[in-house]
Amino acid sequence: MLELSIRGLSKTYPNGVRALSGVDLDIPTGMFGLLGPNGAGKSTLMRTLATLQEADSGSVTLGDINVLKQKDDVRRMLGYLPQEFGVYPRISADAMLNHFAVLKGLAKAGPRKEVVDALLQRVNLWDVRKQNLGTFSGGMRQRFGIAQALLGSPKLIIVDEPTAGLDPGERVRFHNLLAEIGENVIVILSTHIVEDVSDLCSLMAIISHGRVLMSGDPVEAIRSLEGRIWRRVVPRTELEAIQKEHAVISTRLVAGKTFVHVLNDTNPGGFEPVSGSLEDVYFSTLHKAA
Ligand SMILES: Nc1ncnc2c1ncn2[C@@H]1O[C@H](COP(=O)(O)OP(=O)(O)O)[C@@H](O)[C@H]1O
Ligand SMILES: [Mg+2]
Repeated sequence: MLELSIRGLSKTYPNGVRALSGVDLDIPTGMFGLLGPNGAGKSTLMRTLATLQEADSGSVTLGDINVLKQKDDVRRMLGYLPQEFGVYPRISADAMLNHFAVLKGLAKAGPRKEVVDALLQRVNLWDVRKQNLGTFSGGMRQRFGIAQALLGSPKLIIVDEPTAGLDPGERVRFHNLLAEIGENVIVILSTHIVEDVSDLCSLMAIISHGRVLMSGDPVEAIRSLEGRIWRRVVPRTELEAIQKEHAVISTRLVAGKTFVHVLNDTNPGGFEPVSGSLEDVYFSTLHKAA
């Protein structure tokens, strides 16, 4: 089975920002979640894998292909949905996808129409295919972006923060679409939204400040926190004191009350145990690295 292997990948921008710092990752077939806050280096990594940007050092292989050198070979196998996916507002979905299909090498009109029609149906845009892209909602636009990324039956699909800005209904629809793709291909999904990963991904990595902080199976990562996450409602005025005293990994509002989650091997006193979630994995990993 196809595997993407990244070793020691580093990138410093001319302004001195070290966006990637010795990134090592093994990404097998299936849905892989790359989770990290804004500025973590996700888009830099995605653009590098998509052969749109050079790394300073390191190596990447996709099966037998040297990704950093054999760019044309990668591009033939690649579907990419960039974070900023601009569309021409006054062109219909159908016409635009046709145009992308021509660029992908589908020269003959007959077979091209078959592919385009099938994709429009697959991403559930068939009924609106004659509408201009400018009239599309965020979710419809992202589904169009996936259709364009699926042209040419790619074996490596990279989607960069595709759910940012989608409303909950649109996000569910988009998740379902992604979940259908994931067989026999590598899908790398970058996101800062923990739920994207818990809903979709059987493997994940957490990245921050250009470094991989953890990678592996999200379910196992949650299990490793068993018995170590403690929760307490805290009056807002006491929050600062609690943060000084304990390893607070998150604070969140539930029905107007502030709940803090603390990572500790035993009850820190006055807390109740809670079963960990992927959010706890994420925040405790970021907390440890800070
Ligand atoms: N073209 C660029 N020139 C200079 N700095 C950049 C450039 N692109 C990104 N950066 C910086 O590199 C870091 C990582 O950015 P990015 O890869 O976009 O992270 P993410 O996608 O996780 O938000 C950030 O500090 C960002 O400001
Ligand atoms: Mg980004």
